[in-house]
Amino acid sequence: MANYPLKRLRRLRYNPLVRDMVRETILTKDDFIYPLFAVPGEKIKNPIKSMPGVFQMSIDVLVEECKEVASLGIPAVILFGIPEHKDEVGSDAYSPTGIIQQAVRAIKANVPNLLVITDVCLCEYTSHGHCGVLNGEDILNDETVSLLAKEAVSHAEAGADIIAPSDMMDGRIIAIRKALDYKGFTKIPIMSYAAKYASGFYGPFRDAAESTPAFGDRRSHQMDIANTNEAMREVESDIEEGADIVMVKPAGAYLDVIYRVKEKFGLPTAAYQVSGEFAMIKAAAQNNWIDGERVMMESLVAIKRAGADMILTYFAKDAAKYLDRTRK
Ligand code: PBG
Repeated sequence: MANYPLKRLRRLRYNPLVRDMVRETILTKDDFIYPLFAVPGEKIKNPIKSMPGVFQMSIDVLVEECKEVASLGIPAVILFGIPEHKDEVGSDAYSPTGIIQQAVRAIKANVPNLLVITDVCLCEYTSHGHCGVLNGEDILNDETVSLLAKEAVSHAEAGADIIAPSDMMDGRIIAIRKALDYKGFTKIPIMSYAAKYASGFYGPFRDAAESTPAFGDRRSHQMDIANTNEAMREVESDIEEGADIVMVKPAGAYLDVIYRVKEKFGLPTAAYQVSGEFAMIKAAAQNNWIDGERVMMESLVAIKRAGADMILTYFAKDAAKYLDRTRK
């Protein structure tokens, strides 16, 4: 800096009130989407070992949880279902009496002031844990897309407010858009998992959703972790196909991708702080190796600073309470 000593950047840092005044990124509760896991049964609240504070819940418990989420001022939840029966083609995913369809109806009936987003994928519903219909070890794209469209329509029929396809098949956004519109659901937005990477950070989620593939992995459809130009192409095609909101996933290790997506397309952009990101912070905090609350907020502010307009995070409740307490 040539003009020191006249110029001193520390002037705006000495006083906390000044720091508040010049802060560039403000996290609010409106930014959060809270993921929840629905299981069949009653009065069930199974802790997920690798995700402290996160539970699989039966619908009665889930409804109470949603009341708490809404009362904390969090605007939205995203639902994942663990069905009673799994089969080769994930039938429960598009059954009118499937676990998600029941959960959506119950939440919409009891907690009307909460947005219900549904994750559309087959991996939680197939006996083999893959995201689509198989031919041998190959996931069939177009056959899977028809089932995903059916699943999306059945979520909308149950009352879902936003549909979020997470499967990464080609052409699923346009197929889902057309299917929704054909059934009259022209007002329901699609939040597409547009740039979803084949990430090791999903490990704890697969325990929670019981969706670990029986063989192989998801690299034939989820993106290579090394690529960002390809992410631009994925996002662009989802937008052309009719996505209203685009998502980058995971978040913390992909801030460059969030930044590029927001800069280039300017669409409402979501980022998913996934299970492994959450688990690592929780584990280090439990060991007193880091200040858990501080790192939680730092991780969320970083995701927003990179360009995310909304964050799917298992920290939503904790962060909302923190914001209430500190007012920042
Ligand atoms: C697929 C889906 C996954 C996650 C969200 N939707 C798992 C996967 O692709 O294997 C991961 C979320 C997380 O790790 O928190 N239905």
